Amino acid sequence: MVTHPIGRVSGPRLARLLEGWHGAGRPSSAALAGAIRLLVLDGRLPPGTALPAEREVAAALRVSRTLVATAWDALRADGLVRTRRGAGTWTALPGPGRAQDNPGDQPLDLARAASAALPAVAHAVDAVRGALTAELAGHGYHDYGIDLLRERLADRYTARGLPTTADQILVTNGAHHALALVLRTFTGPGDRVLVDQPTYPNAIDAITAAHAIPVPVPLLDDGWDFDGVAAALRQSGPRLAYLIVDFHNPTGLLLDADGRGRLAALAARARTPLVVDETIAELDLRAAPEPVAPLSGPGTVITIGSASKSHWGGLRLGWVRADADVVRRLASARHAFDLGSPVFEQLVLAELYADPVPAIAERRADLARRRDVLVAAVREHLPDWSFRVPDGGLGLWCALPGPMASRLALAARAVGVRVAPGSRFSPHGGLERWLRLPYTLPEPLLVEAVRRLSPAAASVTGSLGSDGTDGLIPVA
Ligand SMILES: Cc1ncc(COP(=O)(O)O)c(C=O)c1O
Repeated sequence: MVTHPIGRVSGPRLARLLEGWHGAGRPSSAALAGAIRLLVLDGRLPPGTALPAEREVAAALRVSRTLVATAWDALRADGLVRTRRGAGTWTALPGPGRAQDNPGDQPLDLARAASAALPAVAHAVDAVRGALTAELAGHGYHDYGIDLLRERLADRYTARGLPTTADQILVTNGAHHALALVLRTFTGPGDRVLVDQPTYPNAIDAITAAHAIPVPVPLLDDGWDFDGVAAALRQSGPRLAYLIVDFHNPTGLLLDADGRGRLAALAARARTPLVVDETIAELDLRAAPEPVAPLSGPGTVITIGSASKSHWGGLRLGWVRADADVVRRLASARHAFDLGSPVFEQLVLAELYADPVPAIAERRADLARRRDVLVAAVREHLPDWSFRVPDGGLGLWCALPGPMASRLALAARAVGVRVAPGSRFSPHGGLERWLRLPYTLPEPLLVEAVRRLSPAAASVTGSLGSDGTDGLIPVA
């Protein structure tokens, strides 16, 4: 529980986040409380964000101060805001409720789609001692990454059908850092960045933190909408396009070779550099994976990758693969952030990539088993949820029986389960009929999480209005 504010949101920014908060209806305290609740639960108002004074909120939203005070009272009762004299009012997340009453219950984190480290990581840590001793004689700063790792990463692209040399690789502190560097180098305030909708939530945050504007192009049920992408490229003139085409997070969709060619051609024609996030590319869970070459094309394509999902997020290592001159630009932008990635972890990853096949095969087998267990559990305990069983990736993208994802996320916390509602995967909220359920935890925990979610979902479904809406802000 956050016991004091650790950041603040201004009145005008809160008003922007709340755009459309009462839909076509009259402004009411219930609608305002519902809208703030969504923003807290989907992470756009993180816990500990100090809210402006009631009077300032009332002015920014053009409503009475009483309406704001009543909404704040309701949020306080739900544990979603806290107030202390002198410190003001700030956002919070409610405690775990029943799970806390029952100390044997562990909170189950299904909001993060990330697994524990593969055993191979610990073996690699032991194996690199000699190599580390040799490195200790140098100064340890490698702006582009250590040569051995850059070479191994380049060889892996070449083996996948995209000829690559070490000078086309920049080692970064994870794929997220890679994206932040690309944004810093290629975009300025007010620039547009085309994104899939839904997309990876932290990418949305990185784009807005770079003062750029995400332009979402909705995915179709079975893949990418090429006409929609072409129209957005034409109409919005984005400075960059950020796409996840390999077991897309959160939908699990995979783009085939033909589709990759079409997207690359569209972006090249519009002269829009493509940023292709391959973080999940290796998590192909089919019995006989059919490899698809990395997306490449006639225009600028910047590929970002990561060891986080294949090996371990705690290595905090990722990379960029791009033309050598782009890599040089990114490396010089890096000096404003950090001066390179840790050498020890890079040696560990280089060791893991000396022969990555067994380790990645183990990761795939684990995830395939967990996916199947989660699929069976959801079908049994939540039969009115629907989803496509993905061929790869980290989670099920579940269609719920109503627009209830954020309410369910709140009800789930009360039974000790954290889940990410669909709104988190969209720059402008909405997607309230969708919820991502990752299958990265061990099987018994997945089954336990679904068992806990089932009554929580029933309680929320039961509270839907007769028109199937839940009285919250309208959803897209
Ligand atoms: C699509 C995608 N990109 C980037 C990341 C972040 O990767 P990293 O841990 O390497 O920063 C994730 C993590 O979930 C992801 O799913």
